[in-house]
Amino acid sequence: MSFKILGIESSCDDTAAAIVEDGRNILSNVVVSQIDEHVKFGGVVPEIASRKHTENISYVVSKAVDSSGLKLKDIDAIAVTHAPGLIGSLLVGVNFAKGLSFSLDRPLIPVHHLRSHIASNYLTNRNLKPPFLSLIVSGGHSHIVDVEDYSSYKIIGRTRDDAAGEVFDKVARSIGLPYPGGAHMDKLAENGNDCAFKFPEPKVKDSPYDYSFSGLKTCAINIIHNASQKGEVINKADLCASFRKAVVESLISKFLLAAKDLNKNNIVIAGGVSANSLLRRRLKEEAFKFNLNLSMPQISLSGDNAAMVASQAYYEYLNGNIAYDNLNASSTFSIV
Ligand code: KG4
Ligand code: ZN
Repeated sequence: MSFKILGIESSCDDTAAAIVEDGRNILSNVVVSQIDEHVKFGGVVPEIASRKHTENISYVVSKAVDSSGLKLKDIDAIAVTHAPGLIGSLLVGVNFAKGLSFSLDRPLIPVHHLRSHIASNYLTNRNLKPPFLSLIVSGGHSHIVDVEDYSSYKIIGRTRDDAAGEVFDKVARSIGLPYPGGAHMDKLAENGNDCAFKFPEPKVKDSPYDYSFSGLKTCAINIIHNASQKGEVINKADLCASFRKAVVESLISKFLLAAKDLNKNNIVIAGGVSANSLLRRRLKEEAFKFNLNLSMPQISLSGDNAAMVASQAYYEYLNGNIAYDNLNASSTFSIV
């Protein structure tokens, strides 16, 4: 008998629900994006995000159940992202999941957002098992994490300031690309000259595995402002290509250094930025060169979704991580 988990995700601006069997087999996966609501503000407005989650969540969950071909009574457990994220957004998912768990009399499984991003790889590469070294890159986080087991982690490095997704979005916004800018910048960069603008290589003193992206962001924004003050037209594709290369090379060099120093042959990337085409291309090249096994989530599972929540929840459940009825949401929470 398989174990079917209904996962719910509402940590930022996507309302999502999915049903996954035994942590690996997706039976349904529904995501309703709020981008259209936030694009006019150039970023996520937390107040609007939680209200939209409240509007959408019943529809999203019933669609996930209906499209799986199951009935609610067939679900064995309810899982929900409880942290980290926007607090008002998280609370919508947590409360909905609590209500379902209570009414169906099924266990409630709390899932950490970054743990679930890693699990998007279990859905893509069904044979992948810990241990491995992972690079988690999203709008809010840039972490190198040693995944010792399905729910046992060690943080090896992290950003000291901005996350990679955040700087992509901010620089993209400064050249007039719509929110979220990371994917738009990636696309534009494909036709640009990545040597057109010079960026410094970010270094964090005495912390070889920690990142720092705010200097790169400031440098890009200065280039844009200086050009506009002089009335010059900047080549956006060139700027995107040069900036993308600087961020990606920094991500890769520290990640691979950590893999080498820790003797890790299995490497995994996760999070919204793992959709970046240069990051994927360069990592494939390096993995081939150094004979590393590389796992990347399929693009459709790299951003926020609930299938990854239901996948990770399976392993949390096996490990006895069940929530009580006083489960709360948290805007910040360590992966460890
Ligand atoms: O994991 P995610 O969907 O949400 C968070 O947990 O933050 O990541 C969203 C981030 C955004 O900053 C978005 O611009 C970025 O991932 N992103 C990309 C690409 N696709 C999404 N960044 C660079 N290149 C992409 N192709
Ligand atoms: Zn995310």
